[in-house]
Amino acid sequence: MTQQTEKDRQFLFIEQAKEYVDKLAEQLGRRPLCNVTTFGCQMNARDSEKLSGILEQVGYELVDTEDADFVIYNTCTVRDNANQRVYGRLGFLNSMKKKKPHMKIALCGCMMQEDLVIEKIKKSYRFVDLIFGTHNIFKFAELLCTMFESDDMVIDIWKDTDQIVEDLPVERKYSFKSGINIMFGCNNFCSYCIVPYVRGRERSRNPKDIIREIENLAADGVVEIMLLGQNVNSYGKTLEEPMSFAQLLREVEKVDGIERIRFMTSHPKDLSEELIQVMKESKKICRHLHLPLQSGSTRILDAMNRRYTKEQYLAIAEKIRKEIPDMAITTDIIVGFPGETLADVEETIEVVKRVKYDNAFTFIYSKRTGTPAAAMDNQVSQEVVKEGFDKLLKIVQETARERASMLEGLTVSALVEEINEQDSSLVTGRLSNNTIVHFPGNQSFIGKIMNVKLKECRGFYYTGELVD
Ligand code: 5AD
Ligand code: SF4
Repeated sequence: MTQQTEKDRQFLFIEQAKEYVDKLAEQLGRRPLCNVTTFGCQMNARDSEKLSGILEQVGYELVDTEDADFVIYNTCTVRDNANQRVYGRLGFLNSMKKKKPHMKIALCGCMMQEDLVIEKIKKSYRFVDLIFGTHNIFKFAELLCTMFESDDMVIDIWKDTDQIVEDLPVERKYSFKSGINIMFGCNNFCSYCIVPYVRGRERSRNPKDIIREIENLAADGVVEIMLLGQNVNSYGKTLEEPMSFAQLLREVEKVDGIERIRFMTSHPKDLSEELIQVMKESKKICRHLHLPLQSGSTRILDAMNRRYTKEQYLAIAEKIRKEIPDMAITTDIIVGFPGETLADVEETIEVVKRVKYDNAFTFIYSKRTGTPAAAMDNQVSQEVVKEGFDKLLKIVQETARERASMLEGLTVSALVEEINEQDSSLVTGRLSNNTIVHFPGNQSFIGKIMNVKLKECRGFYYTGELVD
């Protein structure tokens, strides 16, 4: 089936779903409410905007509370605690559904791509109405119709897909910034990671489609974009006319109206010299690079199948620090990978001290069924994990604090994102390097890029004042 006809099919289902929602509205005597709750990463957040786009079109009112007529959990399975949170909250949804029998519940996202999860939901969570996965989210309108037509649980999970359906409705969370998928899936198979199994093989979107989407966003008032992919540095390799990520960035830079460009996530093994040069020369690429380390021990990196050594990683980080000194570097680190000793954690700590990360997300290793690491027989005891984790966290916080105050006293540009939650006389803005600044302002500032003097660094954020 061609892409165009699939898109057209989905628009027909949108029309059909509208009729079901209209009927429901008549029964309820009001517009039905729908809640989309997102777990996990930016990729999932973007998927939720696509779900919301369809829901809005078919007549639901989107709300933040789960006390709604239709609740969708867009799930994550990268670590087990993400799964446990979903199960916990499903219990709570069940009690709500008992009071409101017309209520519908749907589950989608990464967790649903796992057979064991589906078995468990079929057995113990019979009240769920619709389950789908990551590969067929483009047919959400069709799935909605099937759900309305069926009394049983509707399950539609695909193992993989090479389809990319363009131009379906999207409802953005922010009017002034947006994520954009540039590629889907992952081919890296890091030995601890479930993502390649739940998000499928790597496939890049056509650059023309990406640029067209960005131009449309700019015309709609978006000033900051984030290019999304599991490994953006390998963008374009599978295209008919291959193109590098650095080349794509050069094209994106040309789009008028877009002031800031971010991207997530970069794999160190694919970070090219060309990319460093493009970042250095760019006026729009933000001064923030997320470069997951995972471990500073070459032995563990090898077992993780990361395909770089401690020395290679350090060389890249040092090069970036030298070429682009104001670039914030953040990272992800896992503690407790099978076979890891405290000596390995010391090597990770050494890397943290040398790179001086602006921020580091530290995770305790979580065993994911089906990954090579889950079958390794040298799993680390909880006590050893805790000792290494606490030690690492202390160093990470120290170095991050040191870097955080670097801009104190300077005047820099900030994109104002919202009214401050604690104090409504303040607004919250984001600097190019991803740090937050709070300064006096009002609703009219939201979505604008403004010059702010950073008066004081308070731990990990600044207080500031507007400079005309
Ligand atoms: N256990 C712990 N952390 C993990 N991550 C991915 N898989 C696991 C796992 N099995 C972390 C990595 C990745 C981040 C998104 O989540 O650090 O970069
Ligand atoms: Fe994102 Fe991975 Fe979680 Fe899926 S499993 S939501 S890709 S972090």
